[in-house]
Amino acid sequence: MNTRDMLPIAQMMTLANQRSPVFRGEVWLVGAGPGDVELLTLKALRVIQQADVVVYDRLVSDAVLALIPDNALQIDAGKSPCNHRLGQNEINLLLVDLALAGHRVVRLKGGDPFIFGRGGEEMAYCQQQGIVCHIVPGITAAMGCAAASGIPLTHRHLAQSVRFVTGHGTDGEPDVDWSVLAAARQTLVFYMGIATSPVLSQRLIAHGLPGSTPVAVIERGTQPQQRVLTSTLDALGEIIAQEHVESPALLIIGDVVGMYRPIAGLPEMTFPQMDSPEYALLTN
Ligand SMILES: C[S@@+](CC[C@H](N)C(=O)[O-])C[C@H]1O[C@@H](n2cnc3c(N)ncnc32)[C@H](O)[C@@H]1O
Repeated sequence: MNTRDMLPIAQMMTLANQRSPVFRGEVWLVGAGPGDVELLTLKALRVIQQADVVVYDRLVSDAVLALIPDNALQIDAGKSPCNHRLGQNEINLLLVDLALAGHRVVRLKGGDPFIFGRGGEEMAYCQQQGIVCHIVPGITAAMGCAAASGIPLTHRHLAQSVRFVTGHGTDGEPDVDWSVLAAARQTLVFYMGIATSPVLSQRLIAHGLPGSTPVAVIERGTQPQQRVLTSTLDALGEIIAQEHVESPALLIIGDVVGMYRPIAGLPEMTFPQMDSPEYALLTN
């Protein structure tokens, strides 16, 4: 075994500290993951613990916020779908002003800063203003929700690609190429798609995706309150309305959703027997 594999976490953290100290007057865009505090990276944890100021979003879970040191200033930028506590321009200005004042600034975002997180805009503004901006990736909601519900995003026999798509455009409906999204043998993950779900399903069906395509709606993925609902594309809007699905929630659309098994239903597993022709097909 490689000796580095055996280093305890504390030693790894010390090594990481030596490699990239968190300097004053810099901005760190840090992904907080989808909610489960244990999905935070070691680097994110270290950077948070060395912060002077943390500017955080609505989607950052309480468990992650609890890791911010008592002596760090916490600023709630609170971006919810209809209620932006601070506008994007104000956030950009705030980050730069705090860094220019010599603070170690952590901009803490749900999931990953570069996946529907406007991290690109914040980074570009910092760079324009001459502020060094580091990025620490986080587990994006699609990956967190897929793992927490046991739905693989790709599968050799079911989906050769996966697309992360926004369900929300500037005028409501997203500006996407529906015929590309309706192609077979891929998985679609819609972020911010709950409000527009009736339109999303209509457009996909109109462009050729069967109404019987399985869909999962995952609310508060990876968190103790996680809820997973399954349906078909043609009934998607209905189930979301009936079940009063709330933000944050995302949609996984594609045949891989057929692999979802609620824990209570484990006996329903339908993997083929090892000596069956189906198994041979799957493993070849
Ligand atoms: C503005 S986007 C931010 C995405 C984030 N940067 C990421 O990488 O996950 C917000 C959307 O992400 C999805 N989302 C974030 N956290 C989630 C969670 N824990 N469970 C389900 N969906 C989540 C929802 O679709 C929500 O509307």
